[in-house]
Amino acid sequence: MSIQLPRRPRRNRQSAAIRALAQETTVSVNDLIYPMFIVEGSGVQSEVKSMPGIFRYSLDTLLEELKEVTDLGIKCIDLFPNYSEDKKDKYATESYREGTLYLDALKAIKDKFPDLALMTDVAMDPYSSDGHDGLVENGRILNDETLEILAKMAVAQARAGADILGPSDMMDGRVGYLRQALDAEGFTNVSIMSYSAKYASAFYGPFRDALDSAPRFGDKKTYQMNPANVREALIEAELDYQEGADFLMVKPALAYLDVIKTLNQNFDLPIAAYNVSGEYAMIKAAAQNGWLDGDRAMLETLMSIRRAGAKIILTYFAKEFARLQA
Ligand code: PBG
Repeated sequence: MSIQLPRRPRRNRQSAAIRALAQETTVSVNDLIYPMFIVEGSGVQSEVKSMPGIFRYSLDTLLEELKEVTDLGIKCIDLFPNYSEDKKDKYATESYREGTLYLDALKAIKDKFPDLALMTDVAMDPYSSDGHDGLVENGRILNDETLEILAKMAVAQARAGADILGPSDMMDGRVGYLRQALDAEGFTNVSIMSYSAKYASAFYGPFRDALDSAPRFGDKKTYQMNPANVREALIEAELDYQEGADFLMVKPALAYLDVIKTLNQNFDLPIAAYNVSGEYAMIKAAAQNGWLDGDRAMLETLMSIRRAGAKIILTYFAKEFARLQA
């Protein structure tokens, strides 16, 4: 028996080939940025407990790992440093001093993998004895004084070979300030991927484990955004756009898909989303318990972020995704 139905949406789902034709969104390894962690020492490859499959590498093992990463077709990494407590101070001076672990690593990576796009993090927290992204005075995070430190850090990273700088600190005016500092030093080609809408989120927990960078007091709510707000994200994005950002980022991704969509509808710059450590950890933990299929959950997650409107995804799944496609 058959009922007369003019529209049968199931016809477009009837075979793998037809489903592929009707598929609206795709994820490609070209869209992905792989965040990685570097630590002092040699021969080190230590797993981040709360991020199964993600390691802190010393420079030698990192370079080996990068061979595999680039062979898988990954074209961009975002490197974060883990510094021991004795390297940290109030002013994050280790972030721009010549000859540091991080800056030397950038040079070495660029030297060995000239085609790899190298993204860096511009924020004080991995170098700060206060564990905050900005300079702390009497329990307050100072904005304008922080910009000066960030500019030194940015120029040092550009000098070391960074292609894309990722200011993740959420200070006001940082994109314009960094742009000026970079241009004044002749780094007009170094891009800025601004963490435009970065929320004060519980989902950064595993990352702070990876870097031992949790705030020593208080929280980050006076600079990172209130998770309740989306109109405010438009203000942040507009400022970053005017100040010269090349990419606008939303972070985290999954609880903020509406923010990704809003920015994508309002700005013509490529939108990036950071599928953060806690989002990775949730899927990994459930998969390890056999509670869901980790690969499928990963693919569905990445797809949802692309569908919401992100062109670019920063994700700890990059390598696994690339391997699945290979
Ligand atoms: C800090 C920074 C954080 C992340 C990237 N840069 C943590 C924070 O703001 O506390 C989080 C990334 C992740 O959770 O994967 N400047």
